[in-house]
Formats: sequence, structure tokens, C-alpha cells
Amino acid sequence: MTTTDTPPPVLSVEAASKRFTLHLRDGLQLPVLQDVSLQVRSGECLALVGPSGRGKSTLLKCLHGSYGLESGALWLTQADGRRVDLARAAPRTVLALRRREIGYVSQFLRALPRQSALDLVAERLLEADPSPPQPDADPLDDGPHEAALGAARAQAGALLARLNLPEGLWGLPPATFSGGEQQRVNIARGFAVPARLLLLDEPTASLDAGNRRVVIELIREAKARGSAIVGIFHDEEVRDAVADRRYHFH
Ligand SMILES: Nc1ncnc2c1ncn2[C@@H]1O[C@H](COP(=O)(O)OP(=O)(O)OP(=O)(O)O)[C@@H](O)[C@H]1O
Ligand SMILES: [Mg+2]
Repeated sequence: MTTTDTPPPVLSVEAASKRFTLHLRDGLQLPVLQDVSLQVRSGECLALVGPSGRGKSTLLKCLHGSYGLESGALWLTQADGRRVDLARAAPRTVLALRRREIGYVSQFLRALPRQSALDLVAERLLEADPSPPQPDADPLDDGPHEAALGAARAQAGALLARLNLPEGLWGLPPATFSGGEQQRVNIARGFAVPARLLLLDEPTASLDAGNRRVVIELIREAKARGSAIVGIFHDEEVRDAVADRRYHFH
């Protein structure tokens, strides 16, 4: 613990550098992150800004544990004060953090075939539920599971309704949904569980003005609950409405 009253930042990126190696082009090296250092505190939203192709989405993917780094570190301070370097954490740790601590709204929805929009969001709630299965539960009695599923579906439905997704679509797989409909399912999934670290990659890119306002509200509520947010917002109106600070990629 620190001796001051200020808690450590939730996220501390320290001199992060990364390059991609293009194997199909004789191993050409493409530097994409060069000496990136930034910090984000609880309740704060940092906007990543800069021209296309400079590594903004790549940094979010690194923070989501999908890519490692050549050098530097991505320190996440957990609720109990322990720090974990997201660039070097074991896959099992990354998966556990994604369930409970890290929310991610990617630009495009990745859904399992045949899973309904409602269950895609409900599943996110169930996987974050820390209550372990009861060891003495009757294996033939799936009552508690049904109850948990029902509660998760109700919560998921409330979020989809708030994002104006027509109820007639809730039971359908999102594969055939419009871009904006898919994105709203993705947003509902990303915001369903309160995240310590929330990563947003252009969450409002294909939304109309009304739904953009809903997303602004959701982001403000997440900040009020104490999430540390790193976001990419091409829409300046959204960025101005939610960002406390900016990090410029040159
Ligand atoms: N998996 C990969 N393998 C090789 N190169 C990649 C890979 N992912 C991204 N890149 C390259 O890295 C660079 C940065 O990409 P990134 O998607 O992070 O940019 P960005 O800043 O998010 O851009 P935009 O604003 O257009 O979304 C690009 O030149 C891209 O082609
Ligand atoms: Mg991008």
C-alpha cells in the first residue's frame, strides 16, 4: 500500500513498444507502438487520438491481453492492490481478468453462430458471476442455474431495450443484423459487467444520434462506478462528452 491517500492508477502503461513482423514480406518489421507511456485512474476516461494506422486499436488489443510487447509493461492494479502486467500475464490469468475486471467493446461483434443476441449478453453476465457451483447441489436439479439464467436474461434485456434494439431481434443470432444493431449488441455485452478497466474501440461508429447519446450515458455511468476507461472515439462530440484527457499518437 502507498502511504498517501491517492490510490495508484488502475492502468499504468510504461514505455510500451511493439512491432509486427510481416512474414509474407520477408519478415519486414512494422513498428506500431513506440515508447507509449500513460496512466488511467479510476473514474477517468482517456481518449486515444491520432491518424489512422498509428496503433490505437493495437494498444487496446494489447491491453485486452491479445498481443505481447517487445519492451515495456502494461500494469493493471487489481482491486486488492496486486499488479499484473497484461503483456506478460499467463493465458489463464488473462481469461480470468477478462471475465471479471476488463471490459472490451471491439469495433466489430464476434458472435458464436446460432447464439441469440439476448444470450450473448446474458452469457457475459453469467461468466462474470463469482459464485461457485454448490458442491452438494443435486446434479439433476438445475433450478439454481435456471434462476441465474433467467436473471441474467432479464438484465440483458433491460440493457438491449435501453439501446433501442427491437425486442423482436433479441431471440435471433446477430449475424444478419445491421451494422448498428450488431454494434449495440456488442456494446450491451461490453457494458453488462462493471469493469475495472474498460476498453472501447469506436463504440459509436455506426450509431445514430439517439443511440450515441445512450452510449455517452453508459460511459458516464461506468466512470461514476469507478471504471478506468481507454477509448477511441472518432466522433468528436462523443469524445468531448466523455474524455477527461487525451493521448496523442503521432
Ligand atoms: N496483426 C497484425 N499484423 C500485422 N500488422 C498489423 C496487425 N494489426 C495491425 N497491423 C498494422 O499496424 C498498424 C496499426 O494498426 P491499428 O489497427 O492499431 O491502427 P489504428 O490507429 O487503430 O487505425 P484506425 O484509426 O484506422 O482504426 C497498421 O499499419 C496495421 O496495418
Ligand atoms: Mg483502430
